[in-house]
Amino acid sequence: MKKVLAIILCLSLVFAFAACGKDAKKSDAKKTESQTDVATTAVKTVKDGKLIMATNASFPPYEYHEGGKIIGIDAEIAGEIAKKLGLELVIEDMEFASIISAVQADSVDFGMAGMTVNEDRLKEVDFSISYANGVQAIIVKEDSPITTVDDLFAEGAAYKVGVQLGTTGDIYSVDDFGEDLVTQYTTGNEAVVALLGGDIDCVIIDNEPAKAYVANNKGLKVLDTAYADEDYAICIKKGNTALKDAVDVALEELIADGTVAKIVAKYIK
Ligand code: ARG
Repeated sequence: MKKVLAIILCLSLVFAFAACGKDAKKSDAKKTESQTDVATTAVKTVKDGKLIMATNASFPPYEYHEGGKIIGIDAEIAGEIAKKLGLELVIEDMEFASIISAVQADSVDFGMAGMTVNEDRLKEVDFSISYANGVQAIIVKEDSPITTVDDLFAEGAAYKVGVQLGTTGDIYSVDDFGEDLVTQYTTGNEAVVALLGGDIDCVIIDNEPAKAYVANNKGLKVLDTAYADEDYAICIKKGNTALKDAVDVALEELIADGTVAKIVAKYIK
């Protein structure tokens, strides 16, 4: 009798495990179909129901003002992420150099501003997976004696460089040419105005905004040679893994299904 009971017990355990296994597989299958498990789990944000993004909207084609709205590649990708998380996107425009502190202070949920991932910033914030590549480029006047990046580094060269405050262009230029030769402007556009006015000899800034500034101003060109290659990502408060994981899943899906490429192609012809 005991033996029979033991056998029945064993068998029911085996069946129970098998059933669990099946269930696990079923939900695994669901996950790969829509992959929104993490993204749809409610994440806590600064303001309930909203996803607040800090940016600096003077950076076409990533973020800029048009028709009373902030539009661009970052704004649209952020809109898609918010949709996946079931939240309403709110964009706050501020100085580029203030974005990281706004993220740290919990006054916004994340920063997205064509922001390059680098070692120093990684000490202050976490970054999502990368969604784009950037290149630091050089804008000069059409008749400039500067024709390649190397000209800036030539013996005895002392060209005046303009940058946007707090950007990687700023950090690299100060490193390479020294503080005295580098002027920091609040926006890239102000640096371009200074270049046109003859205050500086070149502007070092990301390639796509550089092209946009040149397209909007006569007498300027972007040098063919690049100054540095970088990856753009979204910055999130250190340790906010719930939001970071949700953003990463959403971004992975948006990259995989071609949404990111479609948005980029809309703004970069
Ligand atoms: N990629 C550069 C950086 O991270 C410049 C970004 C400037 N972005 C902006 N929205 N103004 O430092």
